[in-house]
Amino acid sequence: MTVNSIYADGYKNLKQVNIDLDPKMNIICGENAQGKTNLIEAVWLCSGCRSFRGTRDKDMICFDGDVSRVSVNFQNSRRMENIEFILKKGAVKEKNITLNGIKNDRLSKLFGEFKCVVFTPEDLNITKGSPDNRRNFLDIAISQIKPSYINALKKYNGILQQRNSLLKSMSTVHGSDTKYLDVWNEQLAEAGAFISVLRYNYCKTLNEQANKLYNLITDSKENLQIYYQSTVYDNLEGETDTKNKLANMYIRKLKDTAENDKKMGYTGSGVHRDDMHAFVNGISLRDFGSQGQSRSAALALKLAHAKILKAEQGEYPVMLLDDVLSELDSTRQKFILNNIDDMQVIITCCDSRPITDLRDGKVFTVENGRVE
Ligand SMILES: Nc1ncnc2c1ncn2[C@@H]1O[C@H](COP(=O)(O)OP(=O)(O)OP(=O)(O)O)[C@@H](O)[C@H]1O
Ligand SMILES: [Mg+2]
Repeated sequence: MTVNSIYADGYKNLKQVNIDLDPKMNIICGENAQGKTNLIEAVWLCSGCRSFRGTRDKDMICFDGDVSRVSVNFQNSRRMENIEFILKKGAVKEKNITLNGIKNDRLSKLFGEFKCVVFTPEDLNITKGSPDNRRNFLDIAISQIKPSYINALKKYNGILQQRNSLLKSMSTVHGSDTKYLDVWNEQLAEAGAFISVLRYNYCKTLNEQANKLYNLITDSKENLQIYYQSTVYDNLEGETDTKNKLANMYIRKLKDTAENDKKMGYTGSGVHRDDMHAFVNGISLRDFGSQGQSRSAALALKLAHAKILKAEQGEYPVMLLDDVLSELDSTRQKFILNNIDDMQVIITCCDSRPITDLRDGKVFTVENGRVE
């Protein structure tokens, strides 16, 4: 997938941006607070995902303007397509969203049309932060590959809430009936087993790909390994029977921990507590990783995900890299600028020095929301 051109006007501070991109490498350069991340964000929204900065719809319109318009022309293996969205002050609910000119009521409905993978400075949390950051990474990644995963996750979260409310009431009212808990256990187990297997298998493939990429990024000096850590299963290798065998094991776990759950008033085990562990040269990245190692590893995970998308769907996504070069040494910077040559990259940076290492591609300058 490649973006041919981007138009953005009134999206945050962006003003009359109208650029044609290079099919491979695009560098968006500029000082702080000029609009680099805003441009990356505008493109990302076309993938149908929420803003990676949690921006609300009304805040996407320029402070002193009334209309925000973003239009992206992109090419997939079949044809040229267009996604456009227009937001108007005072009427952000009625977004004007079109895919190839045909109206759509929500950006999220476009999920799956335009595929991109984004790396932002916040993604350091995937390696450094708490487990929910890693689960969130896995959830978005697997949803891009398998739409039925989103439904299972929604179902799981809904049932989990119900089970937790019941546990809370049980922790205050002693001797309450446990038959309702059994009902929630069964439903939670079926969705949970399905999610566990998909996450386990995804992490296995991710590990293979990320390991190779991390080796390239670090010039074979360091080795990255990642594992899925389930709170329910000891070993998911080769397991496929989610409906019977794995669901029953999940129920057993929920029953075994029910007493504790009742005391705590919430569900202590399950996919909502699972994690993905990462190690560099055998040492936990979360506990001991340096800034550069964490950033390189998070980047390797994102690039590995792009490779998996290509293997699963036959097409590379567009890679959006926001501020990825800072904190990396020149070996790592050179790798990023010159070796990601199998997909289109849009990358932002403040410091133009690394660009002297660039062999091919276009460089744009952002100043006060205008892109040259
Ligand atoms: N709704 C809005 N209207 C106008 N300006 C906005 C709006 N929302 C954010 N901005 C401004 O856009 C400017 C550029 O933000 P952006 O995050 O894109 O900067 P950046 O170029 O990525 O900078 P940095 O190098 O610091 O990451 C900021 O000064 C911000 O205050
Ligand atoms: Mg920025």
